[in-house]
Formats: sequence, C-alpha cells, structure tokens
Amino acid sequence: MDIRDKMIVALDFSDLESVKNLVEELEDLVTFYKVGLELYLNTNGEILEYLDSKGKKVFLDLKFHDIPNTTTMASIFAAKKNIAIFDVHSGGGKEMMNSVVKAVKNINPETMIIGVTILTSFSEESIYEIYKSKLSLNELVLNMAKITKEAGMDGVVCSALESKEIKNICGTSFKTICPGIRLKDSNTNDQKRVMTPKEAIKNGCNYLVIGRDITKSENPRLITKQILNEIEEGLKEIC
Ligand code: C5P
Repeated sequence: MDIRDKMIVALDFSDLESVKNLVEELEDLVTFYKVGLELYLNTNGEILEYLDSKGKKVFLDLKFHDIPNTTTMASIFAAKKNIAIFDVHSGGGKEMMNSVVKAVKNINPETMIIGVTILTSFSEESIYEIYKSKLSLNELVLNMAKITKEAGMDGVVCSALESKEIKNICGTSFKTICPGIRLKDSNTNDQKRVMTPKEAIKNGCNYLVIGRDITKSENPRLITKQILNEIEEGLKEIC
C-alpha cells in the first residue's frame, strides 16, 4: 500500500493559480486532493481536468442532497469523471443513497460513495432546534452511519474520535474519512475535536483530510513529510 494514499489534502482555495502552486510544490508527496464547492464553482469545474492531468486522485466534496433521481443524476457525473471518492448527505435517506449506489457502481464499481452524517458545525443545541430529537448528537451520528451502511454506501465522513465507534457498528470494511487532523502544537482554528495523524490512524481512520496544517504552512513540504511519517508510525503500531 502507498502510504500517501491515506492523506487527502483539502484544496480550500478559490482560484486555480493557488492550487497549481501548491500541487506543484507537493508534487511527489501528495497523491490525493479534496475539491469542495468553493473551488469547484470558482474554476467552473476546470479543477478536475487539472488534477487529472497531474495524475492525482480526487475526493469530490460537493455533498449532494436532493430527491433520489436528482442526486443520482449528479452522482453519475462523478462516476463518469473517474472521481475516486464523492459524498452525499446521509440525511437524504436510504432510498436516495441506495439509488446513488446502484447507478454509480454500475458505471464504475471502484468509485467510493461516502455519506455525510451530521455536519461537525452542529452543536447539541442547534441539532435539537431542527429535529427536536431526544437522541444525543453522537447517537444521531451513529444511527445515520448505520443507515448509510445499510444503503450500500462505502463509508462516512466523521471526526477521528468517532471512527472506532462507527466501525464497531458498521464493520471494519466500512470506510471512515476524517477531517479535524492537526499535528501536535498546531493551531486548531475552528475545529472543535481534533486528533494527530498518528492517533487518527490508530483509531482506525482510513483517510485523513488535511487542510490548513499544510495549505497555510510556511513550509508545506516539511509539514507534509511530518504527517506522512506519523501515518507510517501509526500504521506500524496497528499492524
Ligand atoms: O483546514 P482543515 O484541516 O480544518 O480542513 C478540513 C477540511 O475538511 C475542510 O475542507 C473542511 O471543509 C472539511 N470538513 C470538515 N469537517 C467535516 C466535513 C468536511 O472539516 N465534517
């Protein structure tokens, strides 16, 4: 296994020039990039052609959420573009997720389809305000992960702290993709619950999504190498 494939660098930029500077600087160190709404829209989708031309894998983080037919049509686009991973909101329901899985796997069985359970920006209070549910935020996340698995999806985006618990419920082959990763002593910014790359790997995370630790660093290559070293150490400890 190529250790680099465990790390997905979040390209939280609005223009192609900034992306090109970073991707070229990190050339040999990074194989996988995350493209979100901001970058996708600002580049009119051109970012996908650019990353493809550089031979990079893509996690298309557009979080589709609509009725089954509309979400499935958008997902077919991702499957045809040879995207490695894309995500849909698990809150769209089992029927929606199942329809996406059937259509996408038929076109490209390798494409991984990931559910977004409850956004990490929600607090207990703000989730109660919407759903009026007696369940805790954690119970809601675990229930949504279970439904996501039952719909045939490949995994979920979750905090590294939730990874182990999710795998206990959904099985070890169910993938966890974890943002909120920080090297020791780095700025947590707006992330509330963080883990180091090594801890996250030891907690069972399959892919680590890393943004500002790398993109805002004065020496992105050095930081990227430190993260890769931690991933390697973590993997050795769980083997
Ligand atoms: O800069 P940082 O490492 O915090 O970036 C994390 C990336 O993961 C950002 O692109 C952010 O939008 C994304 N993300 C997240 N929490 C989620 C889902 C996605 O931080 N629950």
